Amino acid sequence: MFKKLDILDEKDKRLRIVSKEVTFPISKEYKNLIQRAIDHLTYSQIEEYEKKYNLRPGMGLAFPQLGINERIIIIVNEVDDGIFENYVVINPKIVSNSAEMVAVEAGEGCLSVNREVPGQVLRYARVTVEGFDEDGNKIRVRAREDLSVAFQHEIDHLNGILFFDRIDPNKRFYSDIEIRLI
Ligand code: NI
Repeated sequence: MFKKLDILDEKDKRLRIVSKEVTFPISKEYKNLIQRAIDHLTYSQIEEYEKKYNLRPGMGLAFPQLGINERIIIIVNEVDDGIFENYVVINPKIVSNSAEMVAVEAGEGCLSVNREVPGQVLRYARVTVEGFDEDGNKIRVRAREDLSVAFQHEIDHLNGILFFDRIDPNKRFYSDIEIRLI
């Protein structure tokens, strides 16, 4: 039975804490929450369930958004119509990045930010992320475009950073001559 997650709102101070490194093995409770996050994010991207459960669409979530200040991120990326890839990375670190920057043209969204924030965020077009899976095995993910943005956005959550912190108030939008918009 699907149960919606309780996601903290941007005003909650716990979103501003630098989260702790996770030690292994992780608890059953954490594994359970990870699965619920995958379900929530997947359902939120399927129109039928989005409506049925009144979900806001989102592709990523970080543990601090659930009130747990530990370094775990979950991303569900729709690679094709109705085909989803899940990424669960524990203690993620960006180990390399492209020189090229991009920005999501429409601006980023966040399940903790329940309002429109005008502006674009500059992100690396490609990143390599290292970390651990749920069983403590070392993993490495190469991400580009939307997925790269998602990793950077979620890792920011682990450091108490929300996407709008990175919007330049003196220059909220870029043209596609200045930056590649995706
Ligand atoms: Ni977010």
